[in-house]
Parts: sequence; structure tokens; C-alpha cells
Amino acid sequence: MKVVSIVGARPQFIKAAPVSRAMAEHNDLRGNPLIEDILVHTGQHYDHNMSQVFFDQLRIPHPNHHLGVGSGSHGAMTGAMLERIEAILINESPDFVLVYGDTNSTLAGALAAAKCNVPVSHVEAGLRSFNRRMPEEINRVMADHLANILFCPTQQAVDNLQAEGIVESVGGAGAAFRRRVARVGDVMYDAFLFNRSLAAAQSSILGDHALAPKKFALATVHRQENTDDPVRLRGIFQALNAIASPESPLVMPLHPRTQKALAACGIACGKNADLKILPPVSYLDMIALEANAGLILTDSGGVQKEAYFVRVPCITLRDETEWVETVQSGWNVLAGSDPDRILDGARAAGRGRDVDIYGDGDTAGAIVRELCAYVNGG
Ligand code: UD1
Ligand code: UDP
Repeated sequence: MKVVSIVGARPQFIKAAPVSRAMAEHNDLRGNPLIEDILVHTGQHYDHNMSQVFFDQLRIPHPNHHLGVGSGSHGAMTGAMLERIEAILINESPDFVLVYGDTNSTLAGALAAAKCNVPVSHVEAGLRSFNRRMPEEINRVMADHLANILFCPTQQAVDNLQAEGIVESVGGAGAAFRRRVARVGDVMYDAFLFNRSLAAAQSSILGDHALAPKKFALATVHRQENTDDPVRLRGIFQALNAIASPESPLVMPLHPRTQKALAACGIACGKNADLKILPPVSYLDMIALEANAGLILTDSGGVQKEAYFVRVPCITLRDETEWVETVQSGWNVLAGSDPDRILDGARAAGRGRDVDIYGDGDTAGAIVRELCAYVNGG
């Protein structure tokens, strides 16, 4: 079976790592691989610390195709990817295309495959913010409607799909195509479980920045809704500056998008020594920071969940979340961009209760088994 996997942005490298490993380990009785995994990197993220560092650290195979698309408007990026992925699919003629998450690379991969009549499987299907102003919401809705196999991380994701009429179907006359909706757990949990002890053993980031366990806060910001709105960006940085103190500094690995937005808005962060701005960090360093932080503030989807994995209270710098269970469990608080709400959230943040919903660490194995069953007509 030949699978073409499409990745392009930081969280997709992290999600693809366990799935690529599971595909490589799926062998016949003689040890011959059953799946040929053709990896396509769209080039959406390209800085060394946004891309190559994850391939090196997580031992992701070198991409078979690198599209070099780079940055641009949504239409320019998605269009360039669509054209180049189509050419690869015509040439490779795979049994499946695998897309991850909700980026422009996801949409381009799903659309190119559907137009080439190649079955699409979507990892992280069914998530919804119900905010159509987010580019990610458009991408994930489109990918889900195009997908033949929808790999849902949670029951909420399955329910969201059902509400849009996306349910199992056997195909045949009258049906658009054979469709499978599978609740498999979260591949990011696989990645976390696989790497947490490596992070503890190998990361030196705490020592490098003189950070004491539980005596610092960690923040990330990169969402378009925050970076491209100067009022929201100012509000968030006002709050982060207020939270950072000599006793408990705030560490912020800064996404290049946010670095550019801060410069464009004239927001200076260098003046507050307690707000430590770092370049984007590697995955093992990020896990080490998350595990040792006293509080996490973020607008990232992945970081919200990782905050729960390490059981550190989280303040989400958005007005809604797709990962509603983190809020329902009491570990995550939605605070938007208003400085008072963020500070109130930070003061009130505390422990929640456990929700055992992200799988058993073998979501990638379940994905591979489902793909094989589908191709074999199961
Ligand atoms: C993208 C995804 C978002 C995901 C995020 C993960 C879309 C629409 N958005 O957002 O869902 O949460 O990745 O990090 O697909 N840039 C660099 N170097 C890089 C990459 C980006 O400088 O290696 C800068 C460029 O100025 C670029 C900007 O960041 O224009 C935004 O990059 P882009 O990939 O368009 O969106 P992200 O904000 O990274
Ligand atoms: N991450 C990382 N280094 C950083 C910031 C984030 O390795 O400097 C990891 C983080 O641990 C998580 C993933 O990147 O696994 C989340 O990606 P991001 O926040 O860029 O995107 P989102 O999850 O919001 O789509």
C-alpha cells in the first residue's frame, strides 16, 4: 500500500512523527514493510527552528518531495501547494493521502487528493471552534468534508462531524463514497508519551535560562486573530508583562509571525528582563518547558493540550477552543486578549480533574490498522 503524507507546518511534523514510525513498523511476517510512506513537505514552514529541527530530533524520514512553497497569502500558498501536490499524486498514484490538522497544507493536500480521486484520510478530524473567521476552521471543515477516513481524537469530534452529516457510509450506488469515522485518540499524546523522558534527560533549556521548576510561566502566541489585530496583540502583551516578575519570570518562545507583528505594531518586549523572549525552541525543549512551568498561557491548539498532558494550568488567549474537554475538566480557562481577563484567569488558575480521552499512546498504530482495513475493503 502506498500512502502520501502531506506536512508543512510545525505541529504537522510533530503529529506525523508517530504515524510515520507506525507505518515503518507495519511489516509482514518476514519483516518486509507493508506500507510505502511517501512524505511531502510543502515548505509552509522553512526556518531551521520551525522545520528541520523537528525532522532531526524526532527522526522523521527525509521528505521524498519538498515543494518549497514558503510564505504568502492564503490563496497564493494554498494554490501553489495544490498545483504541486496534484503533480506528485499523478506521478505517485498512491492508495491514500494522509493530511494532518488544519493548516493551508492540510486543505491543499485534501483538495488535490479528492480531485485526483485518491482517498483522503484526515488526522485530527472533527475539531471545531465554530468561528469561521479563523483560517484553520475553513481548512478543517473543508478537509473533513473531503475525507474518506476521519480520524477523530475525541467523542466531541465525532459528534461535531455527525452534526454536519459526516457519518459512516458504505459507498455504492447513490452514496458519494465509502466513508469511515474512527475515534482513535490523539497522535500528539503519542508524541508526548514517546518523548517526555527524552526531554527530561536531554533538554538543558531550564539551566540555559536559569529557570527553576514551577517558578516560571510559559507563553506562546501565533494565531492570526491575535497577531494581525494590534488591539488584541497589545492586550496580550500588556498582560504577559504584568504576569512576569523577578520571582517568576515568563518565558516565551516566539513564533516568527509574532516577532514580525510586534515589530510592525511597535510593541517593544526587550525592556522587561522578566519577560524572556526566545526564538522558537525544539520539541524536547518545549516539552521540558511545559512540564516545569507553573502556568502556561497560549493561543496554540497543541500547547493547550500538552498543558493538560503535563497537568499544568493553562490560560488560553482566545475566545473559543476546539479542545473543549481541557476547559470542561477545569485545567484550561478561556481568557481572550483582554488584559484584565487574562490576569484574573492567571490568579484563579488551578488544578482540574483528569479526563481520560486522548487515547493510550498508540493512536498512530490504530490509524495504520484502519488505513489497511479500509484499503482491504474492511
Ligand atoms: C500556520 C497555520 C496555523 C498553525 C501554525 C503552526 C495556516 C493558515 N495556519 O500558521 O494553523 O497553528 O502554522 O505554527 O496554515 N514565517 C517565518 N518562517 C517560517 C514560517 C513562517 O518567518 O518558517 C512567518 C512568515 O512571515 C509568514 C508568517 O510567519 O508569513 C505566517 O506563516 P504561515 O505559515 O502563513 O502561518 P502561521 O501563522 O505559521
Ligand atoms: N512547539 C515547539 N516549539 C515552540 C513552540 C511550540 O516545539 O517553540 C510545539 C508544541 O510543543 C506543540 C506544537 O509545537 O507540540 C504546537 O504547534 P503550534 O503552536 O505552532 O501550532 P498549533 O498547535 O496551534 O496548530
